[in-house]
Amino acid sequence: MSRFSEPQDPVFRAMNTSLGFDRRMWPQDLRGSRAHARMLAARGIIGEDDLEVILRGFAQIEGELQDGSFPFGADDEDIHMAVERRLTELVGDPGARLHTARSRNDQVATDFALWTAEAAERAIAGIEGLMRTLVEVAEEHRNWPMPAYTHLQRAQPVYLAHHLLAYVWMLERDRARFRFTREQALRRMPLGAGALAGVNFDTDRTMTAAELGFDAPAPNSIDAVSNRDFALDYLGAAATCATHLSRLGQEIVQWASEEFGFLVLPDAWSSGSSLMPQKKNPDCAELLRAKAPRITGHLTALLGVIHALPLTYNKDLQEDKEHVFDAADTLEQSLAAASGMIAGGTFRKDRMAAAAADELLAATDLADELVKRGVPFRQCHAIVGGLVREAVDSGRKLSDLSDDELQAQSPHLGPWIRELLEPLSLLERKQSQGGTSSLRLTEQLELAHGLLA
Ligand code: ARG
Repeated sequence: MSRFSEPQDPVFRAMNTSLGFDRRMWPQDLRGSRAHARMLAARGIIGEDDLEVILRGFAQIEGELQDGSFPFGADDEDIHMAVERRLTELVGDPGARLHTARSRNDQVATDFALWTAEAAERAIAGIEGLMRTLVEVAEEHRNWPMPAYTHLQRAQPVYLAHHLLAYVWMLERDRARFRFTREQALRRMPLGAGALAGVNFDTDRTMTAAELGFDAPAPNSIDAVSNRDFALDYLGAAATCATHLSRLGQEIVQWASEEFGFLVLPDAWSSGSSLMPQKKNPDCAELLRAKAPRITGHLTALLGVIHALPLTYNKDLQEDKEHVFDAADTLEQSLAAASGMIAGGTFRKDRMAAAAADELLAATDLADELVKRGVPFRQCHAIVGGLVREAVDSGRKLSDLSDDELQAQSPHLGPWIRELLEPLSLLERKQSQGGTSSLRLTEQLELAHGLLA
């Protein structure tokens, strides 16, 4: 007997089932169910003999899920029902006792929190992998000058290592966000909240929480089954991290272009054109750019699902998992790809040095030197602006201007400016904390190594 007089409409059934995507949570479902069964037996809610039989059933089910022989049924709505159905099929009544003192509402919230915590750990590992690659490549290019840009206009020369390390600090913040995500996901365990109000049995949720690695049972059963903040935390962290990778992807696209020519991508991370035989395209870097909005879309979508959702569980919440699953798959792939592409790339010292040798990049330094000689900064800015205009208008470099021309711009100018126009001198003068000079770069590399120790 059942509440229903007719079978589900096939269209509704297809819409309602989550097995297609939530089956990947089977390891978490088994973990949760084993812990629940042990607790039920410890509290005398089921017999020790029941527990033994249930655990034996789970051992077989785990094998079946691992080797792909698990017989999913047409009526299995989700992974939770599939596992319980199979258990009962295998062991009979003890299996049918398993769902005592729990609901799928607390079960799914628990499984998903465990899954998300593990995904956060994988993200941290991927982030650290990329950080390590960046630090290594930075070490190898410690004193390779290149221009840094604002508005994509050459601004000031920096060392390539300094530029690469900028991403390490972005990733270090991403790592902190994923650590927070993991910590929050494992803070308060939903399991044992029942459908929403608690259960009619003398359970021990502290015991299950300890076994599953949660800090404590969630203190409010309503919040326990409604909460998906851990998923939002994951998606927020993932969206920011992927957005960082999109900036790296864009820079790689630029660097690998003929126009920049700063970077030769490894063949293993490039594609050809179906039409133009000469092409070697930075598809991987372009995809890094385009994967970010996909992940941001998942964040926006889940915020939309939860927006104004009344407490407690609503089936809307089944639409939480695919966003997180796809975001996790996409992010893990992007991190690995970024690392592979950078590790295999070849930077072109000549091209970067030639671009960094652009004397106009010394304009700020000239102005600063005038300041040191007692001229107020605003006047210095104007003097050097006039100098730059004179050079650009006459198609010459700053160092080509004669002493008389310098004097004509300002009595404060003189032949001394020419030695300042050397790119290396510009770089090494940036001795302020966090600056690009070799001295500061050495400090920074040490700090970066410390992040990964
Ligand atoms: N597959 C469901 C989900 O992912 C499991 C929870 C179902 N609970 C319910 N009351 N229908 O959310």
